[in-house]
Amino acid sequence: MKKQRLVVTAGPTREHLDPVRFLSNPSTGKMGFAIAKAAVEAGYEVVLVAGPVALKTPKDVKRVDVVSAREMEKAVTDAAGDILIATAAVADWRPAHCSMRKLKKGEMGGTLALVRNPDILKGSTIPLKIGFAAETGDPVAEALRKCREKKLAFCVANDVTQKDAGFGVSTNRVIFVKPDGSCTKLPKLSKLSVARRIIAEIGK
Ligand code: CTP
Repeated sequence: MKKQRLVVTAGPTREHLDPVRFLSNPSTGKMGFAIAKAAVEAGYEVVLVAGPVALKTPKDVKRVDVVSAREMEKAVTDAAGDILIATAAVADWRPAHCSMRKLKKGEMGGTLALVRNPDILKGSTIPLKIGFAAETGDPVAEALRKCREKKLAFCVANDVTQKDAGFGVSTNRVIFVKPDGSCTKLPKLSKLSVARRIIAEIGK
């Protein structure tokens, strides 16, 4: 039987304003890499679209490295998957202009003009989509909104103000939120255990 192709986005994106300066965020990519590993274990063909991160590629995973949100969007489209799991912390905005040479401070002024980046998850036509909602407010309400707006099978909500969940750490506390509003709260788990639970949920 042909394997289903599962595409995972991971890590941050960088939005350059010149060759040495960019807008970004502290995502390390751990959650996405754990999902790629768990998906291979479960028998999927896995394409991992990674922003700039310092992690080893899990065994048997096809990795595509990207820098910006627009590169990530193209790599996801090119991967032509059956399932998309979007864990990447995509920069929602990029500088309106990117200089080919290093800007001098006198050329920069006090205001940076920005333009919106594409919403990769929302725009993707991959048939089954799972998103993440890393929030500092009410994670369930936000996850439900994202589920409906981006047409997700479910959204993984987490409160990144907790010290053992979110950016950089190896554990996570998450809640699966479905478009009908039903929720499944998981205990504190390693990111790999959360990843295996997400893959098991897709199998259902
Ligand atoms: N996402 C994406 N492309 C973007 C922004 C977000 O693919 N340009 C994906 C993320 O990978 C995540 C989900 O959408 O799976 C939610 O991302 P998040 O940053 O929490 O929310 P936003 O959609 O940016 O919404 P808001 O800023 O209103 O919270």
